[in-house]
Amino acid sequence: MTRRFFVTGTDTGVGKTQVSASLLRLMAAQGLEPFAFKPFESGMASRDAPADGLALQRAAGGWQPMETVTLFRFHAPLAPGIAAKLERRKTSWRRVVTGFRAFGKKAGVVEGAGGLHVPLDASHDVIDAIDALGLPVVVVARAGLGTINHTTLTLNALVARRLRVAAVVLVHSTKEADASTPHNRGELERRFPRVRFIGPVRFQRSESRRREAFDEALSSLVE
Ligand SMILES: Nc1ncnc2c1ncn2[C@@H]1O[C@H](COP(=O)(O)OP(=O)(O)OP(=O)(O)O)[C@@H](O)[C@H]1O
Ligand SMILES: [Mg+2]
Repeated sequence: MTRRFFVTGTDTGVGKTQVSASLLRLMAAQGLEPFAFKPFESGMASRDAPADGLALQRAAGGWQPMETVTLFRFHAPLAPGIAAKLERRKTSWRRVVTGFRAFGKKAGVVEGAGGLHVPLDASHDVIDAIDALGLPVVVVARAGLGTINHTTLTLNALVARRLRVAAVVLVHSTKEADASTPHNRGELERRFPRVRFIGPVRFQRSESRRREAFDEALSSLVE
């Protein structure tokens, strides 16, 4: 089994980086030297400090030069395709594909930006990157109210493009209790009986406990 995934989400801020970092840590713990790839990242004060790129680089074991983790970086906290236009910066789809191919057959994780239909450039959304790289998808979704709708829309879009879904991970990324939480997973499993659901991963303010919670939830994906 090749342990490589494209991690997307139903939205921004749902826990994609937490899930990606956990998958990378678990792979690194198996001695795999996994690659981390977050080709487009926006919303950073300094281009030397892409937060997601740095978190993924560290989780993968720190062996990768940052230029191979995060190719295109934007200051504006906007969809990459919009931020690039605003900041008059050129991106290259070819570099995304060749940057990915350079990892060869290594295990690893690609993190998208926001959700499936976030524009990466003038002619590609995140879903086109998933298609081009040919990786099984891990969908990260909120554990709370709204997730049945967002997750259904996301899974239907992937199915329509015949893209493989490795798992949906429900994450409690905020501390607020939500009456919908006990019902979400059951309803989604009823709608998508062939999809593997993981979680909900509980909210953990402590970073070490949060890591433990994600690693425990995701370990079956990298066995
Ligand atoms: N289980 C959890 N417990 C506590 N905090 C969490 C949990 N999951 C996510 N968070 C927090 O929620 C925030 C968003 O998570 P994360 O950065 O992984 O989202 P993302 O989907 O990668 O966002 P983006 O679209 O910006 O890349 C972070 O501050 C993260 O630490
Ligand atoms: Mg992220």
